[in-house]
Amino acid sequence: MSDNKKTAGVDVPGGDKQEIQQKAEEAAVCDTEKPARKPVILSGMQPTGALHIGNLEGALKNWVRLQEEYEFYACIVDLHSLTAIYEDTKPLKSLIFQMATDFLAAGMDPERSAMFVQSEVKEHAELHLLFSMLITVPTLMRLPTYQEKKDKLDSYGFLGYPVLQAADICLYNADRVPVGKDQEKHIWLAKDMAQRFNALYGKTFKEPEALFTEIPLIKGSDNRKMSKSYDNHIPLEFTEKQTEKRLKQFYTDPKKVRKGDPGRPEQCPIFLLHRIYTANAEEEIAPPCKTGELGCVDCKMRLSKNLNVALAPVREKREELLAKPDYVWDVLAEGRDRARARAGRTMEKVRRKMKIDYRATKKKKKK
Ligand code: TRP
Repeated sequence: MSDNKKTAGVDVPGGDKQEIQQKAEEAAVCDTEKPARKPVILSGMQPTGALHIGNLEGALKNWVRLQEEYEFYACIVDLHSLTAIYEDTKPLKSLIFQMATDFLAAGMDPERSAMFVQSEVKEHAELHLLFSMLITVPTLMRLPTYQEKKDKLDSYGFLGYPVLQAADICLYNADRVPVGKDQEKHIWLAKDMAQRFNALYGKTFKEPEALFTEIPLIKGSDNRKMSKSYDNHIPLEFTEKQTEKRLKQFYTDPKKVRKGDPGRPEQCPIFLLHRIYTANAEEEIAPPCKTGELGCVDCKMRLSKNLNVALAPVREKREELLAKPDYVWDVLAEGRDRARARAGRTMEKVRRKMKIDYRATKKKKKK
């Protein structure tokens, strides 16, 4: 059987060929240390354009760390965003470009990680379609993400959003999927799809697991979750002056009206940011805020200074990248090619397992 422990997964085309390739690889490295295969990570982000510090702290820094240990596929999921913005698609190109630029500025390394655009790897659409046969409409309708938005979005495409996400993940046989807690059900569904497929057609997919990481809570200027759509965010592209200005507009503890009033740092979005960007915030910011000694204006100025220092290298890199847009598009093209290679191998195996590889089967018989 080709599905022994060593060849579990669909990294290489299966069957005899798979075993031969495996043996060849083993033979090639018999005298040297066998390089361990790195586990695979896939994550996706909708192309919302230039990133903000919430994205940076919430996801991207984690990705940058993970790419050291994993084979990383970072997918800009434009098809997913079409579920909501199918009418006005003109901005997509620029949103994708800006997002890719910020991935690189934040430290994503194109040597290690494949960064690519989902719609450029057609296998996502193909696996989505095949997966859609294996799940019922009521199951999809029960998912909280659908329930939340169904009054505004009730297209067939939007209902299938999590199926497409499952396809994204399974296409690469990802071991781990770093996401926020809000995506828990979607990763569960991806695992479920992998199990269903495996049960019906034979072991094909790895069962992916979510990788939840502690992410710091980041709130925006209005004390809601930081989000571009609320315009309460601090984009990486802000200048130092713009950053300072936005921080000045930030919500603070409403009970602390003027310097001298005691504040409650644990309820203040500025303090949440100090925790990330100010060394010793617990000792140096919280106590004088509580006693009233530190006023909100000073407190924001200190944060602005520290935040700008922390963002300086990212911003510098960003400027450099913006001066060479072709480079950024080349990174996406190279990522696309790497993604296609892996996705293509998976789909070959999928078609074979489902016995819809008509031509390939015919060829084999001829031999
Ligand atoms: N639904 C995810 C989000 O909104 C984005 C996404 C699409 C994704 N495909 C994915 C995340 C695959 C992880 C893996 O954040």
